[in-house]
Amino acid sequence: MARPSSSQKRKGVGGKAIKKPGVPPRVICITSGKGGVGKSNVVTNLAYALVKAGKKVLILDADLNLANVDILLGLSPRFNLHHVFLGEKTLAEVLVKGPGGMLILPASSGIMELAELTESQRLYFLEEMAEIGQKIDIMLIDTAAGINNNVVYFNIAAQERVIILSPEPTSLTDAYALIKVLSSRHDVKRFRILVNLVKSEKEALTVFRKLSVVADRFLDSMSLDYLGYVPYDDKLPKAVRAQRLVSDLHPEAASSKMFTKLSEKIITEKPELRADGNIKFFWQGLLDL
Ligand SMILES: Nc1ncnc2c1ncn2[C@@H]1O[C@H](COP(=O)(O)OP(=O)(O)O)[C@@H](O)[C@H]1O
Ligand SMILES: [Mg+2]
Repeated sequence: MARPSSSQKRKGVGGKAIKKPGVPPRVICITSGKGGVGKSNVVTNLAYALVKAGKKVLILDADLNLANVDILLGLSPRFNLHHVFLGEKTLAEVLVKGPGGMLILPASSGIMELAELTESQRLYFLEEMAEIGQKIDIMLIDTAAGINNNVVYFNIAAQERVIILSPEPTSLTDAYALIKVLSSRHDVKRFRILVNLVKSEKEALTVFRKLSVVADRFLDSMSLDYLGYVPYDDKLPKAVRAQRLVSDLHPEAASSKMFTKLSEKIITEKPELRADGNIKFFWQGLLDL
């Protein structure tokens, strides 16, 4: 990978980010056992609610098969992580700005290449990522569904993980399978659960309890915390069709209000930050896996 010149580097740095120096960004992985439960919509709408609350947010679109954050946001990025590894673009140049000023890092096939970087490419990439990390408060990762290696790696490397459930029984069994792999083989013990596509909080709690009963019985020393729910909302698929965020298009919609509430919860409920809780360590961890 050729190193871009410093003038190249200055171009296209995303956002006039104002952020307390020295505070490492939180890295939150949004994942699920089963596809189609609403991960990408949760990631993008949460990101929007967080930027509205004054946070600098970066989305990493890490779903290799169905990378579609850009489509949901009505963006068409020309470059992605692959071009960074080719040496054609700096990391800052491939970032795109979305609604409210959120930043998106289109990853595409670049994610696969992470495993094949030379030592100098790795160091260069980590330095660039650390630089971007200084400008953001929260990185949200939209992963693929299931238990393939990529999904597992992102979950291990992230400081926090949120698993999305829907009321469908397969979403529960698939989430259980994912939690089992992460907790028993990789010692990942803390998960937060968000239930999507429900009629009410009562239904969400029923779904959450079904999973936590089984997890408590069969998996050791693990903690599942209920983060909240997002109601089924007709306005959401309508917004998807218009390639807009429901929170932007219909701020009064039930789902939009809930995304705001969830963002407040995420901001106030600070996890115990690990000493290595910054974006450079996140990537370092990912590259080491
Ligand atoms: N809360 C919701 N209310 C109504 N429809 C939803 C909701 N969440 C997701 N959907 C529908 O489910 C589809 C799949 O969501 P998506 O975020 O793409 O899932 P995933 O990223 O998990 O595959 C969306 O296009 C939307 O139509
Ligand atoms: Mg998706």
